[in-house]
Amino acid sequence: MCSSSKPRVCSSHGWYVQVDLGCGTGTDALITAGFVGSEGRVIGVDLTPEMVKTAQANAHALGLSDNVTFLVGQIDDVVLPPSLVSARNSADMVISNGVFNLTDDKARAFQLAYDLLAPGGRFQLADVVKYEGPSSFKKND
Ligand SMILES: C[S@@+](CC[C@H](N)C(=O)[O-])C[C@H]1O[C@@H](n2cnc3c(N)ncnc32)[C@H](O)[C@@H]1O
Repeated sequence: MCSSSKPRVCSSHGWYVQVDLGCGTGTDALITAGFVGSEGRVIGVDLTPEMVKTAQANAHALGLSDNVTFLVGQIDDVVLPPSLVSARNSADMVISNGVFNLTDDKARAFQLAYDLLAPGGRFQLADVVKYEGPSSFKKND
């Protein structure tokens, strides 16, 4: 796990919403579920239904199904169900680990991550950055 971090104890409204974009089998979401508190919520979103199914099974096995939810969705087209994020329809923290490099439209993905955040919210990303294109690799190999 390289993108997760312990959030501030609680936001000003008394609970904490965290979104994990491209959650895979839920590793980061499940670890950080311990930080959001019993009133808080972690929402993991992943493109692959099989990943989401495994993440849900992992949450169930860990007894975390009450405050962790996994949804099938694209990170550049995600809409959080209002029932999960209350009236604010926003997150206190968005995390993503090893996913933005896979998206075609990175600008849109970054904009959406920003749009999900409440004012003062935090975005924490771990990913791969490539400075040179494949052609230069081919040339030098
Ligand atoms: C390298 S894995 C990382 C999984 C997880 N974040 C972790 O650190 O264990 C990439 C994940 O991103 C998901 N993914 C790729 N493109 C996506 C997209 N556009 N929207 C949502 N999920 C995506 C894949 O299904 C896969 O589960």
